Amino acid sequence: MPAVASLLSDKRLPADFRVTAVGRRDWDDRAYLDWLLPRSGRTDQTEPTRRALEGVVVYRAADLADPHQLRIVLAPTSDPIVVYLALPPDVFTPVISAITETGLPSGSRVVVEKPFGIDLASAHELNRLLHGLLPEESVYRIDHFLHKQTVQNILGLRFANRVFEPAWSKAHIEDVQIVWDETLGLEGRAGYYDRAGALLDMIQNHLLQLLALVAMERPSSLGPGDLRDRKVEVLRAIRRFEPAEVAAHSGRARYTAGVVAGRAMPSYVDEPRVDPSRDTETYAEVEFLIDTPRWAGTPFRLRTGKALARTRREITIRFRDVRNVVFPEATAASSNLLQLTLDPDTITFRLNINGAGDPFTLETVDLDAHLAAQEIPAYGRLLLGVLDGDPTFSIRDDEAEEAWRVIEPIVAGWRAGLVPLGEYVAGSAGPHPEPQPVVDQSSR
Ligand code: BG6
Repeated sequence: MPAVASLLSDKRLPADFRVTAVGRRDWDDRAYLDWLLPRSGRTDQTEPTRRALEGVVVYRAADLADPHQLRIVLAPTSDPIVVYLALPPDVFTPVISAITETGLPSGSRVVVEKPFGIDLASAHELNRLLHGLLPEESVYRIDHFLHKQTVQNILGLRFANRVFEPAWSKAHIEDVQIVWDETLGLEGRAGYYDRAGALLDMIQNHLLQLLALVAMERPSSLGPGDLRDRKVEVLRAIRRFEPAEVAAHSGRARYTAGVVAGRAMPSYVDEPRVDPSRDTETYAEVEFLIDTPRWAGTPFRLRTGKALARTRREITIRFRDVRNVVFPEATAASSNLLQLTLDPDTITFRLNINGAGDPFTLETVDLDAHLAAQEIPAYGRLLLGVLDGDPTFSIRDDEAEEAWRVIEPIVAGWRAGLVPLGEYVAGSAGPHPEPQPVVDQSSR
C-alpha cells in the first residue's frame, strides 16, 4: 500500500486504477485505512499516504474462500483485474479454489506473496492450483528483492563489462558472500515469522535469488524466458546436502534480550505469540556449493539475521590472491573485492596499488560508485511489472520448486537436531564474529 500510494502521488498509475481490499474483518473504507495507517501524534507522517489512497482504495468484508461472497466482491467489474494474494499458507488452497470456481475476467493476473508453500510438496500443489486458475504467464510469484536497483545491477556489471566475465569463475573467485543483517526484530510479525524463521523467511527466497543472479550463465536475452531459465539452472546445480553435510555447511541461532541501536529488545522467546518449543531461528547461515564446471570449488556463503548490531546488506565477490606477487613478502597484496551494498546503493571495487612514495610497497584503494536513491521503490516497480504484464522479475513455477529442493535437506537436518540452535545477544554482531573480509561502508 505504501508503494501504491507513492505510485499514485507520482502519477504513474492509470486514472481509473482502483484497489479493493478484502478481508474478514467487518470494516468500512475508513476503518481499513485507519488500520493500515495508524495516526501517530500531531505531526502525522502518514497523512500524505492516506490522502493518496483515499477514494482509490475501498474495503469489502468477505470470506475469500466462499465463492458466493467472492462473486459479490468481483461483480462490479468485467475488466481484467489483478488478484493480489497475501495470505497465510493454510488459506491459499481454499481461496484459490473459490476464485477458480468463481472465474476471473479474461486477461486477469494473479500475484502471490511469499511464503510460497511451506515445503516442496505444498509449493508443487500451489503451482497445480494456480495453473487451474490461470496460465503460468499470468501468475506472478513475487520477490521484491529482484526489483531493487542494485540487485538488477548484477546484470549490468556482469554482462556489460568485458573485464568481469572472463574472471567470473572458480579459477579467479575465492568465495561469494551474501549478507543481509538487520537491526529489526520481530516487529509484531510472530504469527508469520515464528513458523518460518530466518532460513525460510530470507534464504529460501530472497538470498537464493541473489545467488542465482551472481552465479548464472549469460542469458541469451533479458527476456523472462531466458533469464529465468538461467536462474533455474543454477538452483538445480546447487548441491543437495546429505545429513552429514548439513552440519558442516549451515548454522542457526536466535537472539536473547539486548539493546539494538539504543532500544531495549526482549529475548525472541519472550516476544508475544512466540512458541519457544518451535525452536525458530532468527539467524541463519548456509554455505552453498554449486556443482558446475564454473563454480565447483567456490563457496557461496549466505547469512541473515534479525536484531543484529548494524544493518548490512551486501554481496561481496572476493577474487583469489595473485600468485607470484613480485613485491616483498612483507607487503602482501589484499584480495580484490567487488562489493555491492544496498540501501544506500554503492558499488565498490578494491584494488592494490603502489604505496604512496614507495614503489616497492603496496596499499589498497577502494573505487566507489554511489548510486542515486532508487526513484521508484522496489514494491512500486514490482506492481508496475505486474500491471505491464512483464514477468521478467517474478518467480516462475519451476524456480519456486527448485528453491525448495535446495532448502528441504537443510530444514530436515535442523529438525533432526543435526545443527544446534545457538544464541546471540540482541544488538551484537551475531553468534560469531562477522564474516571477513568486508569493505566497511559504515566508515564512509
Ligand atoms: C521480507 C522479510 O520479505 O524482507 C522480512 O519477510 C525482511 O523479514 C524483509 O525484513 C527485508 O526486505 P527489505 O526490502 O525491507 O530490506
